[in-house]
Parts: sequence; C-alpha cells; structure tokens
Amino acid sequence: MESDGDYAIVLEDVWKVYKTGKTEYPALRGLTLSVKSGEMVSIMGPSGSGKSTLLHIAGTLDRPTKGRVSIYGIDTSRLDDSKLSEIRNRFIGFVFQSYNLINRLSALNNVSLPLAVRGVPLQERQAAALEALKLVGLEHFANKKPTELSGGEQQRVAIARGLVGRPRILLADEPTGNLDTKNAVAIMEILRNINKTLGTTIVIVTHNPEIAEKCDRIVRLRDGRVESEVILHA
Ligand SMILES: Nc1ncnc2c1ncn2[C@@H]1O[C@H](COP(=O)(O)OP(=O)(O)OP(=O)(O)O)[C@@H](O)[C@H]1O
Ligand SMILES: [Mg+2]
Repeated sequence: MESDGDYAIVLEDVWKVYKTGKTEYPALRGLTLSVKSGEMVSIMGPSGSGKSTLLHIAGTLDRPTKGRVSIYGIDTSRLDDSKLSEIRNRFIGFVFQSYNLINRLSALNNVSLPLAVRGVPLQERQAAALEALKLVGLEHFANKKPTELSGGEQQRVAIARGLVGRPRILLADEPTGNLDTKNAVAIMEILRNINKTLGTTIVIVTHNPEIAEKCDRIVRLRDGRVESEVILHA
C-alpha cells in the first residue's frame, strides 16, 4: 500500500480562506492533490484560480484554513512555526516570477543568500552557490550583478538560488512568465535536467501549454479545486 511517505507533497481537502477586512474569500475550496517524489508537475488554470495560493500552502509558507498538508510523510499541522520553517529550509526551494534578486549583490552572493540566512560558513556557502550556478550554466557570470544579466540569465540565477540548499522539492511560480519562447524553453530544459539528474520533485505554475507539456503531469485548477489532470509521462 502507498503511504504518505512515497509522496513529496500531499494536500487533502485543503481550504484557504483569505480575510480582507470583513470579507472572506475562499481561494482554495477543498483541493486534493498528491505529488510523488521525483515527479515534475505543472499547475495551470485561469488567473485567480488559486495556483499561487496552492504553491504557498504546499511550500509551508502559509497554513491552510482547513485540511491536511503533508511533506514527505510529515503532517505539517502538528508542527509549530519554528519546526515548520526547519522543514521548509531542509526540503523546499522556491523560484518566484519576479526574480527577487538583490541588485547590489553579485550572482554568486544572491545565490548563496539562503545559506547565509541559515548560518552556513562563508567558504562552504560560496562553494555551494558556485555548484548551483553550474547547474544552470552560469558559473562564468558568478561575479556579475543582476542588472548586468539578461532576463533569462536573471531567471537562471533565481533558479540557482532555489536549488542552493539542495532541496528535495522545488516550487516555481511562473518561472518563464517574463521570457520569450526561446528562453522559456531553455529554462524548462534546465529544470527537466535537474529533475532527472538530482531527482528533485518539481511543481511549476505556468500559463504556457508548451512548458506544461514537458512535465510528467498537468493539473488544472478552477475556483480553488482540481478541475482535471492529464498524465503525460508515467
Ligand atoms: N493575500 C490575499 N488576501 C486576499 N485575497 C487574496 C490574497 N492572495 C490571493 N487572494 C485571492 O485569492 C484568489 C486566488 O489567488 P492566487 O494568487 O492563488 O491566483 P492565481 O491562480 O495564482 O492567479 P494568477 O494566474 O493571476 O497568478 C484570487 O481571487 C485573489 O484575489
Ligand atoms: Mg499566481
């Protein structure tokens, strides 16, 4: 029998109700989704259907209003905030659409930042950052600042930063959203390669069908639930 431990992420009947003043808005409405370890899944769906909310909840950046979230068999509702951030640091890397790079820092220092926050010693984190930059083919630009890089290169730096702690799960919110088709496909090939060689579980939110088709599975959301899914590679 399969247990939660075979899955990187299990979301079961997850609700997320946002409160703005007196109004409440249910962004997720009983969403159930499991992602296998080593799987690469794309999340599609109209604007406002809950894709970013899903990534935040799956990444334990936010807690559900109701429902169960389990990461590698660990039920996150049982954890206090400090244990939860430990799990997040250990297992999960993020890539956001707006790259969130710091312009006065070099690519290398941008990538090593998550490790600095965790108190990893300088030499160790710089070596890890260089390795991560190699994964995205940018080690030769380690000393450049974000403003000296193209959009596609900046996105690759953001991916390297997401990977620097060698997370078992990488969550990416529209990582190719700002890029032309050629650069988007290049980013996708890098992510696919990371998924295959490191076995990293990857969840990508995208509006681009060409990007989604490169994944193992396409999950479509509508109104905060899974509307349909298509398995492309078992
Ligand atoms: N912090 C918040 N407070 C209140 N409402 C929110 C908040 N974040 C998101 N929402 C609402 O929840 C719904 C889902 O938002 P979400 O960002 O998950 O959508 P999305 O599918 O990622 O859309 P897009 O494709 O435009 O990025 C939207 O209607 C949005 O207005
Ligand atoms: Mg979004």
